[in-house]
Amino acid sequence: MHVLVTGGAGFIGSHVAAALRSDGHDVTVLDNFHPAAHGPAPTGSGAAPVRDGVLVGDVRDPDAVRAALRDVDVVVHQAAMVGLGLDLGDLPEYVSCNDLGTAVLLAGMADAGIRRLVLASSMVVYGEGRYTCPTHGPTRPGPRAVPDLDAGHFEPPCPTCGAALDTALVPEDAPLDPRSVYAATKLAQEHLASAWARGVDGTVTALRYHNVYGPGMPRDTPYSGVAAIFRSALERGVAPRVFEDGGQLRDFVHVSDVAAANVAACARDGVGVAAYNICSGQPRTVGEAATALAEAFGGPAPVVTGEYRLGDVRHVVASPNRAAAELGYTARVDFATGMREFASAPLRASTAPGTAAPLPASVA
Ligand code: UD1
Repeated sequence: MHVLVTGGAGFIGSHVAAALRSDGHDVTVLDNFHPAAHGPAPTGSGAAPVRDGVLVGDVRDPDAVRAALRDVDVVVHQAAMVGLGLDLGDLPEYVSCNDLGTAVLLAGMADAGIRRLVLASSMVVYGEGRYTCPTHGPTRPGPRAVPDLDAGHFEPPCPTCGAALDTALVPEDAPLDPRSVYAATKLAQEHLASAWARGVDGTVTALRYHNVYGPGMPRDTPYSGVAAIFRSALERGVAPRVFEDGGQLRDFVHVSDVAAANVAACARDGVGVAAYNICSGQPRTVGEAATALAEAFGGPAPVVTGEYRLGDVRHVVASPNRAAAELGYTARVDFATGMREFASAPLRASTAPGTAAPLPASVA
């Protein structure tokens, strides 16, 4: 197949493009080298149409999209701004890149008669993870209250009786409850893609990535996930700062597994819209991730600070069962191996134009 990977010069996109090529596909990459991910454009690069084999163009530009879609069978849409960002001043750029960009891409695909889309979505569409109250069963806590967080009470209580909750795995049909600008734009992408699929009788495979890490991850920026932040701190000789009490549960999934999930999604049988958790199935706490990285790096040991970020959710861990059953995707890199290798893997310099860093042999 001929696959267009948007955002294919970025951290995840470059691994996806490489995995598709290894699987025998023709790959075209479209990327705008957004400064939030790639730093300022190198001097002298001007408006070069191709950089490192990548079509330099923006998914918000209908002409760039039209050119990139030529003779394409499937689009794998990775181009997006991620993370919390700097502040609400970022809001228009998130909506522009993520939602206007998706809209322009989908219109171009409809025009070109392309009916298969693999969409990079995120677990952030769920908001908080899944919880069970011993008395009230499955429940959905609201955003945590500032006085509770200030008092160091980080676990969200049962909204009905205030009891302590147990955590459970989030299935794909859990209610969607985006709690950040980024999350809202990711959910809007899923909705736009669904509307497009109905209009063109198309196929959308939305991959809800959990906490992706691995070689080539960008260094610490306001847009980085926690694994990159910890890893960058260690490289500077600074202790990773673990917020709250370090007990927040996440699913850290290796980028090579995410790339494999995208390859599998390109071949998904069936039409219509389906969403899949792309996770490792091995929940770990943020404190455990910090410790694993610090030990493998050789210190300094993490510090648990008790700080919190208001927009953060407490636990999100997911069931990988649907992706296993329907895509044949199962993560191959276990937490201990992946974190150990990530501790010494190259990070992406913020100004690098971006090709996938080589995978360590044992996870490639
Ligand atoms: C993250 C990404 C998101 C991505 C998603 C799935 C954000 C901000 N980040 O969500 O882009 O789509 O995974 O891959 O949405 N923490 C620390 N110390 C730090 C920084 C963070 O302890 O220096 C803690 C946070 O308080 C939080 C946890 O680590 O509890 C995870 O943070 P982060 O990776 O930023 O956010 P996620 O919600 O997991």
